[in-house]
Amino acid sequence: MKVIIPVAGFGTRLRPHTLLHPKVLMTVAGKPMIYFIVEQIIKEKISNHIVFVVGYLGDRIEKYILKEFVHNKDIKFEFLVQDEPKGLGHAVHCAKPAFTDDDKEAFIILGDTLFDVDLKKLVSNDLSVIGVKKVDDPRRFGVVETNNDKIITRLVEKPASKEVSPSNDAIVGLYYIKNSDNLFGALEYIFKNEIKTKDEYQLTDALAKMIADGKKMTTYDVQGWLDCGKIETILETNAYLLDKLYANKNYEFENTIIMAPVYIADGCKIKNCTIGPNVSISKDCIIENTIIKNSIVNDKCEIDNSEINDSLVGFNCKVKNYKGTMTLGDYSEV
Ligand code: UTP
Repeated sequence: MKVIIPVAGFGTRLRPHTLLHPKVLMTVAGKPMIYFIVEQIIKEKISNHIVFVVGYLGDRIEKYILKEFVHNKDIKFEFLVQDEPKGLGHAVHCAKPAFTDDDKEAFIILGDTLFDVDLKKLVSNDLSVIGVKKVDDPRRFGVVETNNDKIITRLVEKPASKEVSPSNDAIVGLYYIKNSDNLFGALEYIFKNEIKTKDEYQLTDALAKMIADGKKMTTYDVQGWLDCGKIETILETNAYLLDKLYANKNYEFENTIIMAPVYIADGCKIKNCTIGPNVSISKDCIIENTIIKNSIVNDKCEIDNSEINDSLVGFNCKVKNYKGTMTLGDYSEV
């Protein structure tokens, strides 16, 4: 089986951070989000061939993956280009050249979503499987309808209202496809017939075509769904992972109170501060006389005499005498 990770989007909802920095390299709990996805695939032995569909700033992603996972010689990392982000369905189709006749299984994992879920269990099925989670408002998502046997009967991308939505079961970014030929065929069908939703070629629309063609699919309930697509959700994911990974980790800095969970990378100089809870600080930051709560601070920032909460501070930022919440793009000064 091959894993497809589409990472070619612009990440507009995370601007200004994603103007200079690919979304999937944005930090959560001290690591680029894509690290956690690849690490889980390797740890659970899901596949030894991972295909990244790259676009804007894709060379940075390729460089990071090849360096970070350089010791994983038994895994093949392949990078295929989506020249323009025409939608998730289009991105997935860009992975087609990686597939051969003797291996048709595909497992698609969105690059900006982390999962606290047993992936091995999800892919252990005789049918194709779509990961779902119940949400209050399904309008932002692809939504599935199933029958009593959990077989998918209908799929709708971004239903116009709660009333017309087939259910509250939202597709959360995990798709196990038994036969990728069927998927690529359905994608080619939606391209040929210009079937788009919100002006993009959607994966959900191709899956709906597969259902219409009589292909059987089921769902898998994903409880641990950690979205990283927006500032609020990236902070929530940061807090979740810090609690999971660093709940008992303590740090010693001069005249500083650490309120776990907190992650502080090597090379940071911190003095007269209160840090935490839910704070991740990347390497080589200098922070003095400051209180930080529920925030992510990226590499090489200097923060002095401030009180910061619910904030996302980019790389190489300088903050002085600031109180409140902020989202600060790389190389900014406040
Ligand atoms: P999103 O729908 O979140 O799009 O894509 P995006 O561009 O990343 O972010 P926004 O909506 O502009 O803020 C979900 C995943 O699918 C990839 C993205 O890179 C992300 O990992 N994707 C999306 C592609 O690779 N190509 C596309 O054309 C669309």
